[in-house]
Amino acid sequence: MNSTQSKALGRLKKVASEADKSPMREMYKRLESGADILSLAFGEANFAPPAELLQAAEKALRGDKNLYTSTAGIPPIRRAIAGFAKKWWKADVDPDANILMTVGGMEAIFLAAQVVVEKGDKVLLPDPGWGVMRTVMQRQGAVVDFYPLVEQDSYIIDPEAIIDRMDEKTKLVVVNTPSNPTGAVLSQEGFAALLEAAAKRGIFILSDEVYHNYVYDGSHVSGLSFDALDNLIFINSFSKTFAVTGWRLGYAVAHPQIIRQMSIVKESISLCSFSIGQWALADFLPISETYLVNAQKLCHDNMLKMVAWLQAIPGVECTPPSGGFYVFPDLSRIEPSCQKLFMLALDGGVAIVPGDFFGSQGQGRVRLGFATDYESMSKALDRLEAVLA
Ligand SMILES: Cc1ncc(COP(=O)(O)O)c(C=O)c1O
Repeated sequence: MNSTQSKALGRLKKVASEADKSPMREMYKRLESGADILSLAFGEANFAPPAELLQAAEKALRGDKNLYTSTAGIPPIRRAIAGFAKKWWKADVDPDANILMTVGGMEAIFLAAQVVVEKGDKVLLPDPGWGVMRTVMQRQGAVVDFYPLVEQDSYIIDPEAIIDRMDEKTKLVVVNTPSNPTGAVLSQEGFAALLEAAAKRGIFILSDEVYHNYVYDGSHVSGLSFDALDNLIFINSFSKTFAVTGWRLGYAVAHPQIIRQMSIVKESISLCSFSIGQWALADFLPISETYLVNAQKLCHDNMLKMVAWLQAIPGVECTPPSGGFYVFPDLSRIEPSCQKLFMLALDGGVAIVPGDFFGSQGQGRVRLGFATDYESMSKALDRLEAVLA
């Protein structure tokens, strides 16, 4: 039946438009048709997950752990997370009241938006920043405003730039430390100032720390270390930490009232999170340090090599990121339109992400991922260099 004849389809709710779709459609189309394209566009680690984690998953899979779990998540994983938070961030987290296991960090963000943001509330987001945040908040009816993460400040998250934009309508501020795409981080003092200013005004801080293991200047400062759960919603995930994006396993840490509300919403969306992953990570988290250190080192080395490579190309400006999986160079002296850069690169056999996907401050820039092995990265960089020449 021709869709134009359908009365029902004409009444579909307009929640999304084609313009909301990822700009990467053209890339996927070419990849599917078998084109020879090397990717620097990935948003995940292109190295192996920990062998012990996979063994633990296999044990869980064969050991009768294939059924629903409680909505909050199995007690052993919540205890393991509380132990992890204590070890790495000196945080006191109650595994019975403060933690909700989720379907990736994305579900945690969605649930937090559901329970905090009402129509007309102002939400402050970073620009450049991960585009999904804007979509999720706008679907909740939020009025979105942006604070800049600018290269002149070495992509440090400036709490004053955020506090200046807070007003009586502001309900939620999103920080992403380290950031996708810039690698910007929030300092100890910055976090303290931001949490204090937000608490005074009754504003929630959503701290997305999914790249926490990948910090290259000092160590990661977590919102959890501030004992501020009255207005902090901490979002984390195992996706980037252990190269298991497909497991869709993340979690939120927050005040029991917030966790309770988020759990009630989750019950009617996904009921629970991936059982096998929960059991496997409960075993693996306490012994994960060696993997974490090696993965961080691999990314750090690759980041330095990628930055040096790019800095040697005439017309390219590239600041080393403080953390994360990406560099976000300025190519505007070569080509100011990042959509054109994206197509040029694709025609040259390399996939990149156009900077404007991350907001207005991304114009003239592209995002390049370095969480991969050096050989793949250098082959792709060779092609990019040829395109930029
Ligand atoms: C900043 C940021 N937050 C959250 C996520 C969500 O990751 P996941 O749902 O795989 O945990 C991503 C994924 O790319 C991200 O870049």
